[in-house]
Amino acid sequence: MIETLSITKPDDWHLHLRDENLMRVVLPYTVAQFARAIVMPNLSPPVVTVEDARAYRQRILSCIPENADFTPLMTAYLTDDTDPEDLRVGISDEVISAVKMYPANATTNSAHGVTNWRKTERVLAVLEETNTPLLVHGEVTDQDVDIFDREKVFIDEILSPLSEAFPKLKIVLEHITTKESVDFVTETGRNIAATITPHHLVINRNEIFRGGIRPHLYCLPIAKREKHRLALRAAAVSGNECFFLGTDSAPHPISAKEAECGCAGIFNAPTALEIYAQVFDEENALDQFEKFASLNGPNFYNLPVNDGKITLSKQGSETPDIIEVSSTGDQLMPFFSGKKLAWRVI
Ligand code: DOR
Ligand code: ZN
Repeated sequence: MIETLSITKPDDWHLHLRDENLMRVVLPYTVAQFARAIVMPNLSPPVVTVEDARAYRQRILSCIPENADFTPLMTAYLTDDTDPEDLRVGISDEVISAVKMYPANATTNSAHGVTNWRKTERVLAVLEETNTPLLVHGEVTDQDVDIFDREKVFIDEILSPLSEAFPKLKIVLEHITTKESVDFVTETGRNIAATITPHHLVINRNEIFRGGIRPHLYCLPIAKREKHRLALRAAAVSGNECFFLGTDSAPHPISAKEAECGCAGIFNAPTALEIYAQVFDEENALDQFEKFASLNGPNFYNLPVNDGKITLSKQGSETPDIIEVSSTGDQLMPFFSGKKLAWRVI
């Protein structure tokens, strides 16, 4: 039985760091586990221009401890009016690593998102030309479409025509939750990949309603039925280079989660890597963990893999309980709060 596991230092290919006081509290959890992270741009107001991304990157860098080895990889938030030439400069200056497409009103702070992807064709052409990934929140926004079907309908109605119109465009279907997404990515060419979160590997939709309503398990895309969770686990451990790690850690104050209309988002940064390791262990696939966590992502983004290593040991750990954002009085509830986990990052 494997008791310790040493792998190339991993990266988080989908992360919400927020800003200011909240960022100061959540960033150290990511820095402790990952060498790089793709930072989501859905601040309020969003990170739209290259100038916005440069400024946000500076604010992140100023929060990283001096001796820590961590690189934030910045994204721009795509709007109907995004200037393709601004992005072209940001890409060539290596400020922008990827561009994020939120369908307008699909999720947290997405009101400025894209109303019709055809309005962004000039930007998509620049991304295709410069080999820059388009990161997609894959849910349709028509409220008449059942919330559990929105990802599948997105593939049929938006992602398929978009990827056919731009056949060489690199696309990451973010935080996939369905077997249909696994199949789509598996069957399409190498330029379409997907990230998978820790929470979608361990909960199905029943968990959100176990014994009552559990707002801290509410995120978008929402967890689906068990057959989908099993398909995600199979994809993650398959070694297929199109699937890689993206936590989608998305902190919100407890007061915003436990509310009349609670926010979507699961804060998993404190023990993301331990949860992933546990999943790979349960699937008897620890030999595939490094590919998912540390190799497939850089390979897709055309970046070098990290130099360092990280070691996990099967000596157990516990997810922190409530975390205080002391300067504001807000509190955060980590995913799996207070639960015992098999693995520990050492
Ligand atoms: O659950 C989610 N939370 N899904 C998203 O797409 C956004 C995120 C957030 O920013 O809170
Ligand atoms: Zn996200």
